Formats: sequence, structure tokens, C-alpha cells
Amino acid sequence: MSDQDPTIYLNGEFLPLSKARIPVLDRGFLFGDGVYEVIPVYGGKPLRLEEHLRRLDQSLAGIRMQSPYPDTEWSTIFDHLINGNHDQQIYLQVTRGADLKRDHAIPNQLQPTVFAMCTAIAPIPLAGIKAVTVQDTRWDRCNIKAITLLANVLLRQEALDEGAAEAILIRDGLVLEGSASNIFLVKDGRVITPPKGPSILPGITRDLVLELAAASGFPTEQRDIRQEELPSADEFWITSSTREILAVTELDGRLIHGGQPGPVWHKVLKAYQDYKSALREAGSSL
Ligand code: PDD
Repeated sequence: MSDQDPTIYLNGEFLPLSKARIPVLDRGFLFGDGVYEVIPVYGGKPLRLEEHLRRLDQSLAGIRMQSPYPDTEWSTIFDHLINGNHDQQIYLQVTRGADLKRDHAIPNQLQPTVFAMCTAIAPIPLAGIKAVTVQDTRWDRCNIKAITLLANVLLRQEALDEGAAEAILIRDGLVLEGSASNIFLVKDGRVITPPKGPSILPGITRDLVLELAAASGFPTEQRDIRQEELPSADEFWITSSTREILAVTELDGRLIHGGQPGPVWHKVLKAYQDYKSALREAGSSL
């Protein structure tokens, strides 16, 4: 096994990535008919595995499927893929499987296609990032972690075209989330994030950040954030499994906290790093 050609899991087999094949009539390929998870791994242990697997169940239920495996089997697969103690991410994807013809209607009794791989986590830009707001063009079931990500891809690219790292999605005047992240606004020491619902993905990092912010002494609020609140934000963050907590230091060309990550971010990020360290030391997933 090498970094260029890691061992992956596909439908019951472990094999080199370069040898992995799926049929062209797979409904994931034809229709984006599937769901996925991204799980960070520290010290060889997946972070909040139980929560990620419950969200996978929810996503699968949202597309009329069930998990192909019990938790124990997922764990066995992940243990096999995790390679060493450096920071890694598990990507897993379940599609409805390959049919004999292309037909939108959901066929009975297809064998799902199950794919998982584990790769290194890319370095995280601690100095802060630029972001831009864009109108959300996605569907109204964003709580399902669907592989159908064309809107997210195009929205992210809009941000990249403007020299920003993330697109912040606005719908009906509300600030919802990023193209691949949840959002937090800090105002007067309060840590605020939009409520869960069909307009956002219920981020596992989001939940952990809410817990860590409260434990660090900051009041938290889960409520709608209106676009008009952005100019007066003291801090603005995005969170995800692969980017942890990133300070947005420039939003729509306007500096936030003088273009530097703010003090609340420093404290909550420290709590996040401590949580990761505890996981590295722990016997199992935290
Ligand atoms: N994306 N919202 C969206 C639209 C996302 O795609 C993600 C994560 C999040 C954050 O969720 P979590 O904290 O559970 O990672 C919120 C993953 C990382 C991705 O698509 O690669």
C-alpha cells in the first residue's frame, strides 16, 4: 500500500484504489443516488463515530434506504483502513447500487454499493480565510448528506473564482451554512449558529463546537441568523470535520476583527485541540 494507491474498501473487499471498479449503471454514477459521511480520525480513532453513524442512518432513511451494516462491521472496516496515528479522514459512501437499466424509479432489492477510504487530512489554514456570500441554489433537503453535490460544487467554485475559500449560503435573507461547512457568528461573547432543520446539514463538528463553547463559558444560541447581522459580527467561523473551526477574517471584502481570528475563536479552538488530544490518548472513539 502507498499514499498514491491506498487500500480502499469496496463491497466486502479490501483492494488498492487503482484496482477498484464500479458498474457504469450504478445509480450513484447515473443519478447521484446515494449518501456519504466524512469522519475525522485522531490517534487512529474516529471522532464521534457513533454520531456519524447515526447521521448516516438518518441520511439513508431520507433516501429510503437502510444501513447495509451494523456499527460493529463499520468499525471493523474502518480499523482496517486506518493507517498509523497521523490525522486522517474516513470517506464512506453508500449508493443504491447498479440496476440493469437506467430508470428513475427506485428498483426493489438492489445490492447497495459500499465504498470507504481513509486519507490524510489536509493542513488547516489557522490564519483565517476569506469567504463570500452567495444565494443558496440547493434543494430543500440539505439535512441529507447526499452525494448529489452539484449545487455545492458550483457554489464553492463561485467563491474560489472571487479569491475566497468558502461560499456562505443565503436563502430568504437567512445565513444558513457554507458549501461544505456549518457557520457560527460571535456577537458580544455569544456563540450563535442556525438551528437544525432541512436547510442545513446537522454537522457533527457543529454539535461539538456548541458543547465546547458552552464548556468554555460562552453562552450559545441556536437561532436564525439574518444577513443584515453579518456586518456587525465580532467573529465569524466555519466548521467541518476536515477543517475543524476556521475563522473567517474577511467576508464579502469586509474585514472581521481587523482581519485576524478573534479571542473567542482562540479559546474554542484550544478546547477543540484538547478534545482531539484526549481522543488520541483514549482507548476508543470519543
Ligand atoms: N462536509 N454542511 C455541509 C453542506 C457539509 O458538506 C459539511 C461537511 C458540513 C459540516 O459537517 P461535519 O461537521 O459533520 O463535517 C456542513 C464534508 C466535510 C465534505 O463534504 O467533505
